[in-house]
Amino acid sequence: MRRPAASASALSEDERLTLVEADRRLRDDFASDVRAGLTAVNKTLPCRYLYDAAGSHLFEAICDLPEYYLTRAELSILAERADEIAATAVDGAALVELGSGSATKTRILIDAMLRRSKPLRYVPIDISRSMLEESSRALLADYDDLEITAVAAEYRAGLRLLRREREMRKLILWLGSNVGNFGRRDAAKFLAGVRATMAPGDRLLVGIDLRKSREVLEAAYDDAAGVTGRFNLNLLQRINRELGGDFDLGAFRHRARWNERLGRVEMRIVSQARQRVTVAQLDLDVVFEAGEGIYTESSYKYSPDEIDRLARAAGLVIEERWLDAKERYSLNRMAPQSA
Ligand code: AVI
Repeated sequence: MRRPAASASALSEDERLTLVEADRRLRDDFASDVRAGLTAVNKTLPCRYLYDAAGSHLFEAICDLPEYYLTRAELSILAERADEIAATAVDGAALVELGSGSATKTRILIDAMLRRSKPLRYVPIDISRSMLEESSRALLADYDDLEITAVAAEYRAGLRLLRREREMRKLILWLGSNVGNFGRRDAAKFLAGVRATMAPGDRLLVGIDLRKSREVLEAAYDDAAGVTGRFNLNLLQRINRELGGDFDLGAFRHRARWNERLGRVEMRIVSQARQRVTVAQLDLDVVFEAGEGIYTESSYKYSPDEIDRLARAAGLVIEERWLDAKERYSLNRMAPQSA
């Protein structure tokens, strides 16, 4: 990765953007994962496939829904604490963001980092190349002192790249409670992987949604306007589009249920009748029983104790935890345990 120029503002927007594609196997994986998921006894599709261009835009719309409190809660904490957070980053540190999406919330931290030192390197890592390019160009148009190395990759490939850049000092962001879409053990494993890319002075900021009442949680994942339903069903549309499927979207429904014991919201696409679906490019026929579901996403919620345990298991210590005014959501600043 290039170092930021002494004065980034002397460079054009194109010169300040480097696009790295770290994972070219996504499309092939989609075909084999759809085959494996739809032929399993308990049908399932990995949630990462929810984020094609259409899905990413629907997710942006979810973030604005009145029921989906997560984004606003996180934003309110960031707005209050941005300068404090930026002050914990070593001078000249790059801002790295895992799963950056539209990077709307990141602007608050970019502003705070730029108030301390210029120029700033921003390294967004996101699975959606289209969203990555769109958000990077929007940021470059608004910030002259920003240089962006945008990495189109899944998390694992992104971490591999970061490991190769170990000498780069950094503040790493993992916002939006994206950790919630990992199983608890995988979350600890992933965070240990992030920890392995960190030097003692690096810091990691993780947004984590908290356990709360069934009513609030189920409304957040099954909104009155039906946006989350469209987001979930877009997965079937994607199979139709990319793999020649003939899913009738009207014959399936979105469902979101809070599982208190496991501490997770479970998202499914449920067949409304017995039906047969063909996926031409996979040469696949799938029968659905009435009421049968495809499991598409888990969204784990954490208690403060569970967050402490998660950090410890990953070799991290929590230096600071901030909650929003309604105590629904947490932002956690973590450091490597040996620091
Ligand atoms: C991206 N992720 C943190 C969201 C969540 O809250 O688990 C995905 C989502 N699914 C439905 N609504 C939002």
